[in-house]
Amino acid sequence: MKQELAAVVLAAGQGTRMKSDLHKVLHPIGGKPMVMHLLDTLDTLSPSRKILLIGSNADQLREAVDDVEFAEQTEQLGTGHAVQCALPALEGFEGDLLVLYGDVPFISGDTMTAMVETRDTDPNCGLVVLGFDAADPGAYGRLVTAHDGSLERIVEFKDASDSERDITLCNSGMMLIAGEHANKWLALLDNNNAAGEYYLTDLVEIARKDGFSAAVVQTTETELMGVNSRAELATAETVFQNNAREAAMAAGATLVAPQTVFFSHDTKLGRDVTVEPNVVFGPGTVVENGVTIKAFSHVEGATVRIGASVGPFARLRPAADIGQGAKIGNFVEIKKATLAEGVKVSHLTYIGDATIGAHANIGAGTITCNYDGFLKYQTQIGAGAFIGSNSALVAPVKIGDGAIVGAGSVVTKDVDADALGVSRARQRSIAGYAASFREEKQAEKEAKTDKKGK
Ligand code: UD1
Ligand code: MG
Repeated sequence: MKQELAAVVLAAGQGTRMKSDLHKVLHPIGGKPMVMHLLDTLDTLSPSRKILLIGSNADQLREAVDDVEFAEQTEQLGTGHAVQCALPALEGFEGDLLVLYGDVPFISGDTMTAMVETRDTDPNCGLVVLGFDAADPGAYGRLVTAHDGSLERIVEFKDASDSERDITLCNSGMMLIAGEHANKWLALLDNNNAAGEYYLTDLVEIARKDGFSAAVVQTTETELMGVNSRAELATAETVFQNNAREAAMAAGATLVAPQTVFFSHDTKLGRDVTVEPNVVFGPGTVVENGVTIKAFSHVEGATVRIGASVGPFARLRPAADIGQGAKIGNFVEIKKATLAEGVKVSHLTYIGDATIGAHANIGAGTITCNYDGFLKYQTQIGAGAFIGSNSALVAPVKIGDGAIVGAGSVVTKDVDADALGVSRARQRSIAGYAASFREEKQAEKEAKTDKKGK
């Protein structure tokens, strides 16, 4: 029978090995806090309740995590005690409890569902424990199973005999507890063990004594990877990046050198996108079909529309909206600017707080001077306008449709549609000046060397 589900996510531990002022579960992976990866996956199961069990740095978690209820464990007396601390918040709730760890972020929705289904298909099943076959079982709790594969007990490494330590089937720590017995069983935990902690794992024997069976659902060690140190955080990041690369390629993007492309949790690449080597996608990026992102570009919070080309060495910052078929070249930075279809910004340019109309051409070295040290101002460039190289557009300023700005201009006033705006000094030509200048200087130099020679 299908039960309602409450998730209890444990995050009260100190996370001492991170050596950080930031709570361990808030450290980002792919630009998103670790615990949010877990909570987002959890949402795919639509649980009725989500309790985040907090202890150290509780305020940081209350601030950073929405859409959960909080329960506090003021003293960390073990995983069993942690779940006990969540029970008052769940008073009156009659469904099952899914216990998860906030520092184990990659457990999949399929795995969670398999745990729920295992319990739902066997009315006698009181507990489902998530296990894995460890390459190096180390100090993990060991799953002691019967011949029929059911779980007899979990023994913590510290309490295990030599033969139990030989078992490679390990406890991930995550389990599903039959809701109607949770209060009763958790109340029976004690701390008579090598660590002096209330072990959640003791529930297996407690449930069995009460006439219920315990089952094991197995998954891979990678999926159950936990993060306790900066080195493990880096490993988790690598796992995330590899998955993101695979997913982008599976969805029809070409990554020329996948290991050198870095994604955020929400990066979206369309079909037939080509990403050259050494590209970084910060959060909030959407790249539409047929776009090419050339080598060494950094793209964050930007939208790049169909068929556009960006880079090499381009920087797109938040709210850069690059129109269909537009071309953004090397050493170009674009921030909070909307570029219409076919715009070209090919070299050495800063565009900020601007709108640029269709097919405008922005010459090399153009700068929108959007900031006076106090406030930001808008630059508007019309469709088909041509901005000559090395122009400074001092915002607020408007360049009309089809207008031309002469190279090297400092533009402080609006330029009308189809007009030429030019603000540099008029060029003069002085006949013979260069030749006589050289003669004079040459003579000066010779006079000096003669003196030295004497
Ligand atoms: C636990 C399991 C062990 C399993 C291992 C997997 C028990 C008794 N042992 O080990 O069988 O192989 O996980 O990693 O359950 N936490 C709290 N409050 C506490 C204690 C822990 O919130 O009082 C949280 C931690 O923040 C962490 C999680 O529970 O997210 C696991 O705690 P940890 O100390 O790493 O687990 P172990 O006891 O070592
Ligand atoms: Mg412990």
